[in-house]
Amino acid sequence: MKITLSVIKADVGSIGGHIKPSQKLLERVNEYVTQEGSGLLIDHYIGHTGDDVAILCTHQEGVGARKVHKLAWETFKKGTEVAKEEGLYGAGQDLLKDSFSGNVKGMGPGVAEMEFEERENEPFLVFCADKTDPGAYNLPLYLAFADPMHCSGLMLSPKMARGFKFTIMDVEYTRGDRVVELNAPEDIYDIAALLRDCERFVVESIHSRENGEQAAAVSTTRLHNIAGKYTGKDDPAMLVRVQGLFPATGEVLSPFAIGHYVAGFMRGSHVGPLMPVKKNSVISFFDGPPVVSCLAFCVHEGRFTEPADGFDQPYWDWVRNNVSRKATELRQQGFFGSAMLPYSELEYGGIVVKMEKINKKFKVRKKK
Ligand code: F6R
Ligand code: MG
Ligand code: MG
Repeated sequence: MKITLSVIKADVGSIGGHIKPSQKLLERVNEYVTQEGSGLLIDHYIGHTGDDVAILCTHQEGVGARKVHKLAWETFKKGTEVAKEEGLYGAGQDLLKDSFSGNVKGMGPGVAEMEFEERENEPFLVFCADKTDPGAYNLPLYLAFADPMHCSGLMLSPKMARGFKFTIMDVEYTRGDRVVELNAPEDIYDIAALLRDCERFVVESIHSRENGEQAAAVSTTRLHNIAGKYTGKDDPAMLVRVQGLFPATGEVLSPFAIGHYVAGFMRGSHVGPLMPVKKNSVISFFDGPPVVSCLAFCVHEGRFTEPADGFDQPYWDWVRNNVSRKATELRQQGFFGSAMLPYSELEYGGIVVKMEKINKKFKVRKKK
């Protein structure tokens, strides 16, 4: 059976700052999707990571389907109503446009989708990150799909011997989708050269070179580009099909043990290690640290099993402790050097205004 798997997420208001949505908001979202999605969606699952609500669903409308996107948009508007009723902070924060224009891409919410013929068993992972941006997935995807140090299947499984195709988007380009397709293993130096620049180049999708099947889809939206000013970090979602032709679940999870430093954290203007967290986790220290959750499902004829929590296992407690240490070490230098993002990536205008003022006071000394 051919199905489309969509994850659409947005921050439409949260408790106590940018911490987590309220129970009532989540319930309204679930009720609305259940009611209005009947006949359109085959199945759905609602969860949250930090302040972002994610709608995971299956349907047969294909990628970028107007009906599905409209449902998600209307759902987030319903969520916003609850947020307003309850006085939640940042109500409707990620709904950047007033009316729906056919596709939520470019309107604020983050979207990752793929259409495929279900395998006999179809395990997949859904990742949701908060307080960071889509480039946060560059390193784990590179390591899981192109590096045998994390993905032993690249050496051991004949089904993966031909490697994977990476489609990479230049997210700085705002007049359309500027993308490049590069193949691992031949092009890994080129892939690395792009992916090191996480704020500009972002993995959009990955396909198996064995049979062309799609393995991964990432939400590449940059709120900064859409709104032209700070409205919150982009808090990306990602879908990854696993096992068989694709890396095993554990191979995809393996790079997340690094707790690599990403952009985001407090005011979307700092650098912090990405902490793998359990489902429905909240945000705390320095409005972070940047977090990522992973739910593993199987889907059969479009219906989900219950989720298994990819990061709820004692090993990840040890990782979380290490990541806390990495966060603390970098936080000790406050705003200095690499603890904060470069000027172009600062998500609040304060420093820009300050610089304009200070600039006028600078003088160039006359040569003697
Ligand atoms: C980062 C984030 C928070 C806010 C911070 C200030 O993505 O959401 O760190 O930037 O809490 O929020 P405001 O400007 O809403 O007071
Ligand atoms: Mg927020
Ligand atoms: Mg968020």
